[in-house]
Amino acid sequence: MDEQRHNRQEGSASKRGIAKLLSFGALSLFAMLVLSACGPDGEKPYSTVSPASTQADDIHSLYKLVFWLSLVVFVGVQFAIVYLSLRYRRKKSDTKRPPQVHGHKQLELVWTIIPAVVLLILLVPTLNILFDHDAQAREGTLQVDVYGKQWWWEFHLGEDQVQDGASLDVVTANEIVIPVNRNTVFNLRSNNVIHSFWVPQLGGKLDVIPGHVNSFAITPTRTGEFYGECAEFCGAQHAWMRFKITVVEEDEFYAWVNNWRTSPAVSANQQEEGSGVIQAPQKFSVCLSCHTYNGAENSKALTGINAYANYGPDLTMLACRETFAAGMMEMTPENLKQWLLDPDSIKPGNYMSTMIGPGMAVEFTEEEADEFVEFFFSMIPEGGCMSPDGWNVSTGDAPAATPESTEATPAA
Ligand code: CUA
Repeated sequence: MDEQRHNRQEGSASKRGIAKLLSFGALSLFAMLVLSACGPDGEKPYSTVSPASTQADDIHSLYKLVFWLSLVVFVGVQFAIVYLSLRYRRKKSDTKRPPQVHGHKQLELVWTIIPAVVLLILLVPTLNILFDHDAQAREGTLQVDVYGKQWWWEFHLGEDQVQDGASLDVVTANEIVIPVNRNTVFNLRSNNVIHSFWVPQLGGKLDVIPGHVNSFAITPTRTGEFYGECAEFCGAQHAWMRFKITVVEEDEFYAWVNNWRTSPAVSANQQEEGSGVIQAPQKFSVCLSCHTYNGAENSKALTGINAYANYGPDLTMLACRETFAAGMMEMTPENLKQWLLDPDSIKPGNYMSTMIGPGMAVEFTEEEADEFVEFFFSMIPEGGCMSPDGWNVSTGDAPAATPESTEATPAA
């Protein structure tokens, strides 16, 4: 009587176990479907499963291969567990222990060979893609030098095969434009700590190591804005070391390059007639000890302390950027003013705040900060700023000059 009750209890316990297993499985499947349906592309810029370059696509194909192989193994193992536990469960009539197996050559061979075959299926395409990408990093038609800073990125657009190998000589910070369907090589450099360059939809992540140049290629397959992050802990503001790569058609790319080159080239002392640029504030020379901009005559930035490229971000087309402080602040006159008054309150630990801010060597007054903002917003190139939607006459609520032309003027 006792034994029967015992068996009944055991039977219902195993049924409860199976029911739990099934409901857990259903829940996981549901969660997977819900998560995979999260918003359109634009709303998940850090997605690793919507590749936009041939390289990211290659890596994605490996990801899919691993996923499907894992799924087959997972379903196979789960099925075997459920089937074997039901098929060989203890029956009421069983009174003896089943035969115990110790060592089984065939079985052991099978479960060694199957994983070896699975790993081989993964190894061959992985090696193939590794060597392919390595070759592409040496065959770029456009070179971009990337300097990892604490805590922002500097981009130098260099050698361009379309221009017979001449350098484009464009320097910018945190936001860069590259042409679609061109093999652009990013050469990663650092003179401080290790960073990691990662644009989930385009490529990376690749370490940025002091004393060593790491290169990799990105061949974008569609236009759009792609967001990147530093993916290696590098100090206080590691989380705010973001950047953006805007991919555009080739003619728009050269228009952007020309836009940069024709941006007002003024010195602190003289403004070009009719450039729309207002007189630089008196204290602008303070900025020029770390920063420079296109055409700057008296910047010490290139030979500044700790110099490896520029010490502070290049200020050319500053007001045309969508954000500043490496993706932290939206570029508006109000935010820029706030930054100039007290950068440490916005991005604690940044190097500018060792010089500028309340109680530091240089402290701007409200009026001076206003002057700076107006000056930077007046330094928008003729023709306006370029945005992914085309050309803008101005950025934000520019308080100063807004060039009249809204026409795109692509030129090579
Ligand atoms: Cu640079 Cu983290």
